[in-house]
Amino acid sequence: MSLEIVILAAGQGTRMRSALPKVLHPIAGNSMLGHVIHSARQLDPQRIHVVIGHGAEQVRERLAADDLNFVLQDKQLGTGHATAQAVPFITSDTVLILYGDVPLIEAETLQRLLKHVVPGQIGLLTVELSDPTGYGRIVRDGEGKVTAIVEHKDATQAQRAITEGNTGILAVPAAHLSDWMSRLSNNNVQGEYYLTDVIEMAVNDGLQVATEQPHDAMEVQGANDRKQLAELERHYQLRQALRLMAQGVTLRDPARFDVRGEVSVGRDVLIDINVILEGRVVIEDDVVIGPNCVIKDSTLRKGVVIKANSHLDGAVMGEGSDAGPFARLRPGTVLEARAHVGNFVELKNAYLGEGAKAGHLTYLGDAQIGARTNVGAGTITCNYDGVNKWKTVIGEDVFIGSNNSLVAPVTLGDGASTAAGSTINQNVDKSQLAVARSRQRNIDGWKRPVKIKKD
Ligand code: UD1
Ligand code: CA
Repeated sequence: MSLEIVILAAGQGTRMRSALPKVLHPIAGNSMLGHVIHSARQLDPQRIHVVIGHGAEQVRERLAADDLNFVLQDKQLGTGHATAQAVPFITSDTVLILYGDVPLIEAETLQRLLKHVVPGQIGLLTVELSDPTGYGRIVRDGEGKVTAIVEHKDATQAQRAITEGNTGILAVPAAHLSDWMSRLSNNNVQGEYYLTDVIEMAVNDGLQVATEQPHDAMEVQGANDRKQLAELERHYQLRQALRLMAQGVTLRDPARFDVRGEVSVGRDVLIDINVILEGRVVIEDDVVIGPNCVIKDSTLRKGVVIKANSHLDGAVMGEGSDAGPFARLRPGTVLEARAHVGNFVELKNAYLGEGAKAGHLTYLGDAQIGARTNVGAGTITCNYDGVNKWKTVIGEDVFIGSNNSLVAPVTLGDGASTAAGSTINQNVDKSQLAVARSRQRNIDGWKRPVKIKKD
């Protein structure tokens, strides 16, 4: 069987009240349409056709990829009309229709649906609803066979009592689809070309309609407004949380944990509340992440400890290293094993060798720091001269006194020391002590100013 997928994504989404096209609104940092495309790709289709209309240029720009064919639907004349725009491009024998604003659909559910597409049969995904208002209703005959879908607005009182709703998701043989599209009419209450009319046509052509249901009704829930968007977000996040817990992670509160990307985890990882993981995050065994941390595109090796309120982006933390509270590790930060970064320390493009320490109130940018070196409180690298960035290279077992300014480019040899309060703008050789501050003067008999009386 060769498969092509059509994703309908041309609708306006008025209720979002947004300049952003509806299908670009995010769930877990990825657009709704992005999620649908992700599930679609897992089915390994020949091609994915995305029908766009409202905000077409923005959608195309954001999601362009080799396997996507964007098809423009100039006027939104209905789901049938939208599907018809993609039909001329289809060369495979099976077509699956998805929706750009139904983001949580799972590939596994779609696989089950596709199994029903055999000669003489089509597959329809339906859902049992406690309140089916607004949905198309699945009409069945006395033997339980599907005979039609009636839109809510076109339904009789009796049909409105049906609780089996149309999800819109449908798998059909391509050969029939183009014929059915040519026979669609807009002779209905909404004056639209309904895709749902193909069900009745299929039955009249002697095909069976086989139905399948999702395991979880949220999979087929659309987002029409921001309230529904938030509901889908929470549902998605809970799904991520459950997955990680199943893999050996303790989450202090699964409802206060967000993943906006892809995370791989080891065992016995502990994650406290309000942690956000973004992009690609790798977490090895025994890692502990304190509350209120944001961790993006980073790797945390075995036994890493990150204390509260830390922010990581593009960092690699070596085995047993620790950071925080209130640490900021920016892109290009590498901590070797057991390196220590304390509170109010910012690192950017900085390498801390094994066991090196920067405990307090420090900025290290474009810096290489050797093993076991200690960087005193309040030290900063002056890496920027207003035009160019320069590098600071510090050897092993160096002792940088408190409140140093290291004016790059500058190099300090192994075992060097610097005095507290120094401004180091010349290289320091191996084992030398650099003192670069003005000498202290003590003045005898100093008279303090006295307060002037005002009347
Ligand atoms: C549709 C179904 C209904 C089903 C419901 C599930 C039809 C006629 N009805 O109704 O049976 O219960 O979905 O949510 O199919 N779109 C386009 N171009 C258009 C119109 C729509 O691309 O001209 C896209 C929209 O962007 C959206 C999807 O198709 O992603 C569904 O459109 P919508 O208007 O929400 O359909 P409903 O009336 O809700
Ligand atoms: Ca809808």
